[in-house]
Amino acid sequence: MAFRIAQISDTHLSPQHPEFTANFDVLAVHLRASAPDLVVNTGDLSAHGELARDDLVFAREKHEALGLAWVAIPGNHDVGNDPQLNGPTPADAERLSRWLGIIGRDHFRRDVPGWRLIGLNTLITGTDLPQNEDQFQFLQESLETAAGRAIGLFIHKPLCEETVAEADTTYWAVQPEPRRRILNLLARHPAAFIASGHVHQWRDRGTVEGLRQVWAPAAAFMVGDTWQHPVGEKPVGYVEHLLHEDGRHECRLVRPEGMVRNDLGLMPGIYPAMRSIAA
Ligand SMILES: [Fe+2]
Ligand SMILES: [Fe+2]
Repeated sequence: MAFRIAQISDTHLSPQHPEFTANFDVLAVHLRASAPDLVVNTGDLSAHGELARDDLVFAREKHEALGLAWVAIPGNHDVGNDPQLNGPTPADAERLSRWLGIIGRDHFRRDVPGWRLIGLNTLITGTDLPQNEDQFQFLQESLETAAGRAIGLFIHKPLCEETVAEADTTYWAVQPEPRRRILNLLARHPAAFIASGHVHQWRDRGTVEGLRQVWAPAAAFMVGDTWQHPVGEKPVGYVEHLLHEDGRHECRLVRPEGMVRNDLGLMPGIYPAMRSIAA
């Protein structure tokens, strides 16, 4: 029997945003019926956890209420964003400590038959927090001691948008310097797949440049083409991963009936107003 993971992402939960809660509730009913072995949330559990406690507390309660085994890694709306972006809410010690106190760990390792699953908090990889170096140590050790297990890596932002060589500081992917460090470690111990969220688009291009990157759609909302270039597809839903004990991996998009394809561009007031990309 394959080990079955439901990778959910970008749930953006908050008591203030009932549309996102409604999608999570539909997803929760679906997941309880489907009964995966593990639920992995690849970040942005909360809508505004980078600003205050309440949404993180709410997100934790909603995940506990699933009644399923779950783990999570933070997104930029949970612990703040890459400092290189010079935004108003950079990842820092206070934001990280808020997450750690409410959700628990920000990275994980879990062994299941034939596989080692590794989750990372990539939002701190551009900071000088001591936890950043600790986490790189953790990644190195986790890869070196995998003992032949296939590796599945979970991160919030994709490792890159189009190519690992891209050098821009970008909102959408892991920044170039930490990307290089992660790739150096993966060069000796390749990951079978790298599963991410953040873009709110579903994309599985197969293996490109030796990497199988799988982008999960968001659970809460998509962003219409007026405001965000379509790179993949923009459903709402989640990704089911099947991990076979012999190291084979399959994944598929799942769109539970009843989840609403909210368009953030048409929902003013939740986040700062977005600009039309045609302007
Ligand atoms: Fe998100
Ligand atoms: Fe994000």
